[in-house]
Amino acid sequence: MSTTAAAAKPIATSSDANQKAVESTMLSPRFYTTDFDAMDRLDVSSVRGEWDAMMREYEGDNNHDHFQRDAQFADEVAELMPKLSPEMRQEFLDFLISSLTSEFSGCILYNEIRKNVENPDIKQLMTYMARDESRHAGFINQSLKDFGLGIDMGDLKRTKAYTFFKPKYIFYATYLSEKIGYARYITIFRQLEKHPDKRFHPIFRWFELWCNDEFRHGESFALIMRANPHLLRGVNKLWIRFFILAVYATMYVRDHTRPMLHHAMGLDSDEYDYTVFRITTEISRQVFPIALDTDHPDFRAGLENLFAISQANDRAKARGGVIGKLTQGVCALRAALTFGRLYLMPVQSSELPQTVRMVPAW
Ligand SMILES: [Fe+2]
Ligand SMILES: [Fe+2]
Repeated sequence: MSTTAAAAKPIATSSDANQKAVESTMLSPRFYTTDFDAMDRLDVSSVRGEWDAMMREYEGDNNHDHFQRDAQFADEVAELMPKLSPEMRQEFLDFLISSLTSEFSGCILYNEIRKNVENPDIKQLMTYMARDESRHAGFINQSLKDFGLGIDMGDLKRTKAYTFFKPKYIFYATYLSEKIGYARYITIFRQLEKHPDKRFHPIFRWFELWCNDEFRHGESFALIMRANPHLLRGVNKLWIRFFILAVYATMYVRDHTRPMLHHAMGLDSDEYDYTVFRITTEISRQVFPIALDTDHPDFRAGLENLFAISQANDRAKARGGVIGKLTQGVCALRAALTFGRLYLMPVQSSELPQTVRMVPAW
């Protein structure tokens, strides 16, 4: 595990913000590229009915006018932002930058696939999803610009490192991140709906309709995987297990580095993360034949351990020198062992439902 918000240099200037977005650590959102020829060969004909219905929803574009600020937005920013402590402001900025990077990561990947395939189904899907993600990233960037910390997205696209993932890894990881994105946004929205006094920035008012886009993006990958059932069988079940754990563990450690953010919303990071895991696990039964038991005490203890190791690693990094380096090595080993133990915990199997599509009902 690597840099955390708490250990990192504060974000004070536009160059710090851009640096934060471009850096690649274990915890920061990444940019991806993939095998476009394999994407081109995908066949969704076995789920044609559900696919076409989904395409009609994308075409209907019910969030077309959603990502516009209303008249009160600027007033709320002016009223609420000065009330944040400097530490809280840092956590919020970290949240905005990592959310933007992750929205923009989807935008770039979907756009590259769109440009590099001829397959009409995939091309059309990617066009719609890139459209949505570009709106999402742009909307977050407006809020960063309020702080004078806008991200130069063209530059980010050119300079950030890209990770190559085979299509099946893209499906597992992106499906999860879309559904987690939904679960995260809706959990925050529902909490602040109950406690409007804790809504410390107007952007959270947008989350309800916003997360329906993420839900639908996740549905698209669910249909692709269900149309290609070999992706959900045999040795691939081990990959699915790996990706669920990796995505959950990364989210847990990252969220626990910004406890104030959740506290300000009247949540604690544990409560928030386990709610998000439960929602995501429930949804993911539409496609994944296995699920992790995230409420098992050993699972929770394992995640707590990973966070403690990540903190120890940050302290070692800050200390530097030979001892610092050695300690970092020990931390890496301990993290790998803890991850391995979590990976080997028993999983729950699920029977895949006949109908793939679900509605965002949380
Ligand atoms: Fe998005
Ligand atoms: Fe999305």
